[in-house]
Amino acid sequence: MIRETIITTLNEDNTVHIAPMGVTKDNDFYIIAPFKPSTTLENLNRTNQGVINFTDDVRIFAGCLTGRYDWPTVETTEINGQRLQTALSHVEVEVKKSEDDEVRPRFYCIVKHEAIHRAFTGLNRAKAGCIGSRYSGESSTHVTSRKN
Ligand SMILES: Cc1cc2nc3c(=O)[nH]c(=O)nc-3n(C[C@H](O)[C@H](O)[C@H](O)COP(=O)(O)O)c2cc1C
Repeated sequence: MIRETIITTLNEDNTVHIAPMGVTKDNDFYIIAPFKPSTTLENLNRTNQGVINFTDDVRIFAGCLTGRYDWPTVETTEINGQRLQTALSHVEVEVKKSEDDEVRPRFYCIVKHEAIHRAFTGLNRAKAGCIGSRYSGESSTHVTSRKN
């Protein structure tokens, strides 16, 4: 099962990078698979840490196409990072191993900390469609014309 999430990683200048990404689970590992090239890929390679944010705020998914990335974040608990302030839950992860690939490397991550912040009350059709259609648009090009 692919879980559509928001991955937050730290850039070299310690600013937060926000990117929608589908993650999968393999036993104790969360697998994050960013296409090349991507900032998330660079940040995971450099810091070995990241945050998987579960959110029902579809504006954050849509933001990767509309160019809005200024969503509020707060400091993480166990790793050096930032999580979405409005996340329903979040998982702070550390990369344990990675598989390089010409197109889409895979990072196998273990959980360092996880927390639930509020209840998931479901997606209506419009919201679910928004996430699906954003990803269709993304996967056809692999990367967006992100400016920051
Ligand atoms: C629902 C959804 C799921 C996505 N899943 C992935 C993914 O698994 N891997 C990926 O590279 N991009 C994925 N994308 C596209 C990225 O969010 C987008 O290309 C983003 O800019 C990542 O690149 P960046 O780290 O350079 O910002 C997804 C987008 C959406 C809306």
